[in-house]
Amino acid sequence: MNALTPNRPDLPAPVGLLAELTHRCPLRCPYCSNPLELDRRSRELDTETWQRVLTEAAGLGVLHVHLSGGEPTARNDIVEITQTCATLGLYSNLITSGVGGALSKLQALYDVGLDHVQLSVQGVDAQNAEKIGGLKNAQPQKLDFAAKVVELGLPLTLNAVIHRGNIHEVEGFIDLAVKLGAKRLEVAHTQYYGWAYVNRAALMPDKAQVDASIRIVEAARERLKGQLVIDLVVPDYYAKYPKACAGGWGRKLMNVTPQGKVLPCHAAETIPGLEFWYVGEHSLGEIWRDSPAFTAYRGTDWMQEPCRSCDRREKDWGGCRCQALALAGDAAATDPACSLSPLHAKVRALAVEEAAENPPDYVYRTIGSNVRSPLKEEAPL
Ligand code: SF4
Ligand code: FES
Repeated sequence: MNALTPNRPDLPAPVGLLAELTHRCPLRCPYCSNPLELDRRSRELDTETWQRVLTEAAGLGVLHVHLSGGEPTARNDIVEITQTCATLGLYSNLITSGVGGALSKLQALYDVGLDHVQLSVQGVDAQNAEKIGGLKNAQPQKLDFAAKVVELGLPLTLNAVIHRGNIHEVEGFIDLAVKLGAKRLEVAHTQYYGWAYVNRAALMPDKAQVDASIRIVEAARERLKGQLVIDLVVPDYYAKYPKACAGGWGRKLMNVTPQGKVLPCHAAETIPGLEFWYVGEHSLGEIWRDSPAFTAYRGTDWMQEPCRSCDRREKDWGGCRCQALALAGDAAATDPACSLSPLHAKVRALAVEEAAENPPDYVYRTIGSNVRSPLKEEAPL
């Protein structure tokens, strides 16, 4: 049971804080969940402000801090920030690509009390992995990094985002996780926001591939009980019901961007008209309680049919607002990934059609790119 929000005894406090310390990253993954307009280094919060934000988070009742990005170890102060988490009793999870300066900072991070490492892996075959991540020689760096994490005795989770470019490697990801001594593997089918939405046709697998990947995971879970935990995120477009995105809007998570804008989920900025508050202007507690962005879709009052009268409305909270906007053109609509949405059949048909075509080239993630958001055009359904 999480704590309650000060001055709002009816509102549970957030459990987790996603600290997007920087958008800088040596990798260029085409499914990156960062926004198309990435924050530049000159706009990033300084060390002191992050430390204040973490102190407020601990006071608010947050338990877990995900040190993320971009690549969080690209920040020169990552060790100080991690140390602040440890001092405040916040469980710290480093979400890293394992390349660039990550390995050289790992020992220091361990020494100041880092609790957990989540390492992204783009593929199993090095050539394929490096094509997806858009960086040569990344795979050996990742493997060295993983070995060091395990050598230090830190719990390691591998995160594999699955799509048509690597879905044939699901078995290989499982073997890799076992070989590296990871405690957990996330087989996370791509969620189509941010850069993944732009690259959807290049990433969308077909239903038979998805079903095969699920069978592989289910068999491995049995086989590896007690050795490796495998989390599976199934692809929305082929799902029956959507997931509770971000654990439900304004219910569990706060996401702080590199420049200090606080979001209820990583893609919330795609929803036009939402007013976001900044850590420079408000405390984290005020933002959680009162910011217009957090209150917009909290609870169930905003729901339309079929969500409004659905008995799953407090399980999945109507799915994903950002996906509802992207596909239906209305953030308050039922997520079209839901089989009860009037648009679901169209979503499924769109996925089938895209998966059947030859994949276009990736549009790689870059800071300062001119990639236009397809959301500025009409919703596709
Ligand atoms: Fe969830 Fe809404 Fe679908 Fe019901 S109708 S399952 S609440 S998304
Ligand atoms: Fe924003 Fe799902 S990504 S609610």
